[in-house]
Amino acid sequence: MTKTRATITAVGHWVPEERLTNADFEKMVDTTDEWIRTRTGIVERRILRNGATSDLAANAIQETLKNRGISAAEIDLIIVATVTPDMFFPSTACLVQDRIGAKNAWGFDVSAACSGFPFALVTGAQFIETGTCRKVVVVGADKMSSITDYTDRNNCILFGDAGAAVLLEPSADSSAGILDHILHCDGSGERFLNMHGGGSLNPPTHETVDKKMHYIFQDGKAVFKVAVVGMADVSAEIMERNNLAGKDVDWLVPHQANLRIIDATAGRMGLDRSKVMINIDKYGNTTAATIPLCLSEWWQSGKLKKGQTIVMASFGAGWTWGAVLMKWTAEDAR
Ligand code: COA
Repeated sequence: MTKTRATITAVGHWVPEERLTNADFEKMVDTTDEWIRTRTGIVERRILRNGATSDLAANAIQETLKNRGISAAEIDLIIVATVTPDMFFPSTACLVQDRIGAKNAWGFDVSAACSGFPFALVTGAQFIETGTCRKVVVVGADKMSSITDYTDRNNCILFGDAGAAVLLEPSADSSAGILDHILHCDGSGERFLNMHGGGSLNPPTHETVDKKMHYIFQDGKAVFKVAVVGMADVSAEIMERNNLAGKDVDWLVPHQANLRIIDATAGRMGLDRSKVMINIDKYGNTTAATIPLCLSEWWQSGKLKKGQTIVMASFGAGWTWGAVLMKWTAEDAR
């Protein structure tokens, strides 16, 4: 019996209009455009002033449904990857379900930080592969500006807000769609990248606010060292176990945290920069949204085409990291 594979049949994204440029940061903290560009590759990011993560997610899903030409009522399951849910409960998936009128869907949130999208994508794929669902929406959305300390120059220049979604359906071709994945987590990395305030460990108090515990904490240098190895290793591993060389991969779709991490991963995979989706310059690190945001932009511009082989790769807080291999099957953008 041939295996039913899950495949992405549509993509869509939504970003807020407002931009925070490196020049803006020069006025806010002790930094320079030159430092930010050379250390990170970032030039500007989008900021959502009014609204929450569910707005980013709902708008991205609506774009995706439009691109596929289906209604929200056809969705069976909504999975939202985020570390900036609107609230602890109800889940952002519930809020989105109501907003878009997905009256036949159930849903839940996945928390895996910058690896949120691959984790949610692989989770969603299981429901397609087992025949439980026929249409699963996976959305990565984060309003990082809501947990960013704009007086901390080490971190504030890195993050932005965005939402991007994919629709998963059964693949008509059993040799296409999501072909393989490798996912990992290692909680020993918790101390290097976290937000310690607001949860059951440190419920909100005046003290947690005074100590800025509701903002991202990151030891950038320590994270960089582990991320640069972790993302490259897992990408090389998924290629090796599928007997792929650099020439067999059309696109690397990396999490956009730092251009130097992306370049190291591409180098390890034997890929030229021209085969790497990079938009960190325009959006910064949008956490769970980075990978689908790349997919959506490259599909929209006609560069991502049906039949191409892609490797998605991520590394983030947890630690969480992984790679997903897929053959792209969505109809080309018109
Ligand atoms: N502008 C100017 N100088 C800055 C700065 C800024 N915005 N932020 C930090 N610096 C300073 C530091 O204080 C440090 O000064 P010092 O040497 O006097 O102490 C110096 O620049 C170098 O800092 P360093 O931490 O060595 O820089 P870096 O090359 O490691 O780059 C990051 C910093 C954050 C860009 C980088 O470490 C990084 O991208 N880390 C990983 C992020 C990531 O992948 N996250 C993964 C999941 S989200």
